Amino acid sequence: MLSVLLGLLALSGINAAPVSKEEGKSYYALNSSSTDSSIFPLLNGQGPHYDYPQSFGIPVEVPDQCTVEHVQMLARHGERYPTASKGKLMTALWKKLKVFQGEYSGPLEIFNDYEFFVSNKTYFDQLTNSSDVDPSNPYTGAKTADHLGKYIAYNYGELFSDSNPVFTSSSGRVHQTAEYVVSALEKELGVKIDLQIIQEDAKAGANSLTPADSCTTINEDLGDERFENVTLPYTTDIRNRWMKKNSNLNLTLEQDDIELLVDWCAFETSVKGSSAVCDLFERNDLITYSYYANVNNFYRRGAGNPMSAPIGSVLVNASYNLLAQSDDADNKVWLSFSHDTDIQQFITALGLIDNGVTDYSLEQVDFQNIQQLSWVTPMGARIFTEKLKCGNSSYVRYIVNDAVIPVPGCSSGPGFSCPMEDFTEYITDRLRDVDYVSNCEVQKVSNTTELTFYWDYNEVDYNGPVDNK
Ligand SMILES: *[C@@H]1O[C@H](CO)[C@@H](O)[C@H](O)[C@H]1NC(C)=O
Ligand SMILES: *[C@@H]1O[C@H](CO)[C@@H](O)[C@H](O)[C@H]1NC(C)=O
Ligand SMILES: *[C@@H]1O[C@H](CO)[C@@H](O)[C@H](O)[C@H]1NC(C)=O
Ligand SMILES: *[C@@H]1O[C@H](CO)[C@@H](O)[C@H](O)[C@H]1NC(C)=O
Ligand SMILES: *[C@@H]1O[C@H](CO)[C@@H](O)[C@H](O)[C@H]1NC(C)=O
Ligand SMILES: *[C@@H]1O[C@H](CO)[C@@H](O)[C@H](O)[C@H]1NC(C)=O
Ligand SMILES: *[C@@H]1O[C@H](CO)[C@@H](O)[C@H](O)[C@H]1NC(C)=O
Ligand SMILES: *[C@@H]1O[C@H](CO)[C@@H](O)[C@H](O)[C@H]1NC(C)=O
Repeated sequence: MLSVLLGLLALSGINAAPVSKEEGKSYYALNSSSTDSSIFPLLNGQGPHYDYPQSFGIPVEVPDQCTVEHVQMLARHGERYPTASKGKLMTALWKKLKVFQGEYSGPLEIFNDYEFFVSNKTYFDQLTNSSDVDPSNPYTGAKTADHLGKYIAYNYGELFSDSNPVFTSSSGRVHQTAEYVVSALEKELGVKIDLQIIQEDAKAGANSLTPADSCTTINEDLGDERFENVTLPYTTDIRNRWMKKNSNLNLTLEQDDIELLVDWCAFETSVKGSSAVCDLFERNDLITYSYYANVNNFYRRGAGNPMSAPIGSVLVNASYNLLAQSDDADNKVWLSFSHDTDIQQFITALGLIDNGVTDYSLEQVDFQNIQQLSWVTPMGARIFTEKLKCGNSSYVRYIVNDAVIPVPGCSSGPGFSCPMEDFTEYITDRLRDVDYVSNCEVQKVSNTTELTFYWDYNEVDYNGPVDNK
């Protein structure tokens, strides 16, 4: 009962903030400020980092009778600029909006003396850091990564040895995030970290932190295709509201333009610390946007895409093997950095938030059934897998963006962890019907059919090259 209550309280935190009224009476009202961090969970993981919003109320602290004997982390890069492809769309939209600068009335007035938030297109795709953004901006990718390094040092410092590997994909922003974390760890713990740069490349096959690169059978447009020929009524409502006082302008805002402005709000907040563009949207607009974004995620990288589980199984399989072999391994900390796509596929293969629903309405928000994949992968996302020793037995638990998410159907251990023997059964069951190499027809592009870097990094030189994508 208590955990249910706490869960609800955590949820209510998304949309209500206590404010005091004239008579000194306190009540709950909406916070519509552009820097209102309570909208972050509604921005499809494109804005600044936030903790997992739907806490079950389970304490994140290690249960009293247990110690952590082994930990793994799969993290996303920190806050970044839009990708080059999204940046191009935004630049085009800004060109269209700019024509009427000085003439806007109503909500669109914000554009009358507006300056596009990316000053140079060389910034697209990159992590935000204090050398290119206002240092008072609390949301930079560099700050999030430094904080993560300190978090790991504080919570898992005792598990480090004198020399430790850390694994990153070769994407510039991912690599940079890993470097910030590594430097925080070295500083906090006085240990040496050996950064392994795993190439993002179709030729890498299964030996990759981005195994989707070698999946020749995936249809990444499965999400977008769902929305083909569909007009979402909420975008019509938004357009009508914005254009009411601007009907004199020869401006046609498409559905894509309106949804792109939500991304704009998210990215501008990461780059500038706040965004007036966020004020164009009412909270219910963002709730609806978030729902459709997660429907898209479901078909693109979630259980609605038949290739998600095979792709995600590569990292789930490796994670399980590390857990199973932990008693014999010297290394007790396994930190890896990649992208949101890879993490969503990992979570899908694992089934951590799977509720079995396979079809979603495009007519209305299906609040009870939607899987909030975006909540798993905000910027700076971090999924910890802990192996706990409690008495003489071992248990596994997951901490997703600082909230404990129990393994479905396996929570009988201390702190709702999963007993190791049951965990073995759970994973065996999840991986039974998936085969990355054959489902993805990997051998069309690579003969590498096993993930080995966690085991052979001492012998093999994993050294990039890093590129800006
Ligand atoms: C509401 O917005 C104000 C002004 O930006 C901010 O300081 C405050 O933290 C916000 N409250 C919540 C609960 O997010
Ligand atoms: C953008 O950045 C590049 C690389 O730093 C630089 O060469 C170029 O002059 C910049 N462009 C503008 C418009 O500032
Ligand atoms: C900060 O970001 C810029 C470009 O976004 C990059 O050129 C620079 O190397 C970064 N600085 C550090 C310290 O990582
Ligand atoms: C969308 O419309 C086009 C053209 O009429 C059609 O070819 C396509 O199959 C439609 N897509 C969906 C998902 O219904
Ligand atoms: C309105 O804009 C469209 C597209 O830019 C243009 O083709 C059309 O000529 C414009 N109409 C008027 C009346 O200016
Ligand atoms: C743990 O194992 C040891 C040695 O096998 C045994 O002596 C001890 O009683 C066990 N402790 C618990 C709590 O089961
Ligand atoms: C896989 O190995 C076979 C046999 O050595 C070779 O003929 C083939 O070109 C390789 N395929 C790829 C994608 O490298
Ligand atoms: C999955 O794990 C097994 C060991 O249990 C290993 O033989 C296999 O190569 C792994 N699969 C991949 C794709 O790495």
